[in-house]
Amino acid sequence: MKSSVRVGLMGLGTVGTGVVRLVQGHQNDLQKQTGLSIEIKKVLVQDLDKERSISIDKELITTDPLDLVASDDVDVIVEVIGGINPAKQYILDALDNGKHIVTANKDLMALHGAEILKKAEEKGCDVFYEASVAGGIPILRALVEGFASDRITQMMGIVNGTTNYIMTKMSQEGADYNEVLKEAQQLGYAESDPTADVEGHDAARKMAILSTLGFHVDMSLEDVDCKGISQVTSEDISYAKKLGYEIKLLGIAKRDDNLIEVSVQPTLISRKHPLASVNGVFNAVYVYGEAVGETMFYGPGAGELPTATAVVSDLVTVVKNMKLGVNGRGSVAPYMEKRLKNDEQIISKYYLRLVVADKRGVLAQITRILSEHDVSLEQVLQQPYNGGAQAEIIIVTHKATRKDIYAVRREFEGQDSVLEVKSLYRVEGGEEE
Ligand code: NAP
Ligand code: HSE
Repeated sequence: MKSSVRVGLMGLGTVGTGVVRLVQGHQNDLQKQTGLSIEIKKVLVQDLDKERSISIDKELITTDPLDLVASDDVDVIVEVIGGINPAKQYILDALDNGKHIVTANKDLMALHGAEILKKAEEKGCDVFYEASVAGGIPILRALVEGFASDRITQMMGIVNGTTNYIMTKMSQEGADYNEVLKEAQQLGYAESDPTADVEGHDAARKMAILSTLGFHVDMSLEDVDCKGISQVTSEDISYAKKLGYEIKLLGIAKRDDNLIEVSVQPTLISRKHPLASVNGVFNAVYVYGEAVGETMFYGPGAGELPTATAVVSDLVTVVKNMKLGVNGRGSVAPYMEKRLKNDEQIISKYYLRLVVADKRGVLAQITRILSEHDVSLEQVLQQPYNGGAQAEIIIVTHKATRKDIYAVRREFEGQDSVLEVKSLYRVEGGEEE
């Protein structure tokens, strides 16, 4: 009879350090809940000489992955090195050797999750990846277990802590984009290449995982329409505020009559919506179920200890499954056909900011173009621009199809009196929802 579960920890960076701290600090509670102690047997790193901020027996640290994946002394691999390679190969090799996997790696699960889960099923092994989406929020478990009896029609999420931290600081303190990005990197929130955060790729991977589990479809990353925050200006943020909105990098997954849309984009969210008050590194996922109605899951989306709680909780589930002898039997493969919406089926309100010549008839021309494409106005602001020779026109539309709004933008771009279409963003969470 086993007295401990032996863990091979891959990675001792932000998340790996948190995992060691929690396993050391909460050992008693973990043992009471699982009946077994959790023992870290080996830790894989790149640099043996790096200073570590935790006390850990140097004998445990190795640079040889075989000390973990091929060792008879390891039952579970916790992968927190990140990236696709070599993490993918290490995980597949570990599964081949009958080891269970806990990972925080959304890149890997969004791109190769199906292959990894298939191998795990063949080998009777568990693969859990709660920390891959929204850090410390137990959202994947909520989707798979809590919503098992319902039918989810909408998930909207602030699922990238770095960009939410940047947008909050820009909105509340008028902070400079590059300065705040540097801060987020220093705090351990950003990916090693922060382009993944600011261009929306990290959030897109998380939305692919959420929509696969929430809609039971095999959602691939290419199906997620993705745009980041690097073009969002302080002017847009302040106009949005005047109109009653905050700008957030929002993941949007909607299902209407089994047609699905999934995207990540800077979005104006009405201050009446609970997502508008999610600030800083906090994440939130708003889930609408046909039977339950509105729910929202909120918490820290990144950082050492919050992320480690999700990893160690997955570890607890693996241990409980080991005791019950049910490892590898929990996952449900996607069973719904994936049918994606086209541009005529994607419908929402939009925010447009234009620079125009400040002369008679221009506003009439703008409203004519909107009306010719079936787009009607909800709010309009006009501000002097460039010393008054030009004007900025800021519009929030009523609901329109994406096809129509793109046609409007094309037509505006061809008008002499419209000098520039500065911004076009989706608007969510208003009264028409
Ligand atoms: P990190 O701070 O950069 O740490 C990565 C660790 O992995 C380091 O200890 C590094 O070794 C080790 N490593 C990297 N490549 C390796 C290789 N080829 N072989 C052996 N060891 C290697 O990363 P992190 O922020 O902890 O993130 C880890 C994972 O968690 C990523 O998938 C990330 O997306 C995910 N995640 C992170 C957060 C967060 O808040 N940071 C939140 C949710 C999910 P050295 O220490 O020797 O350099
Ligand atoms: N870079 C990610 C974020 C880490 O900022 O949300 C958590 O996945």
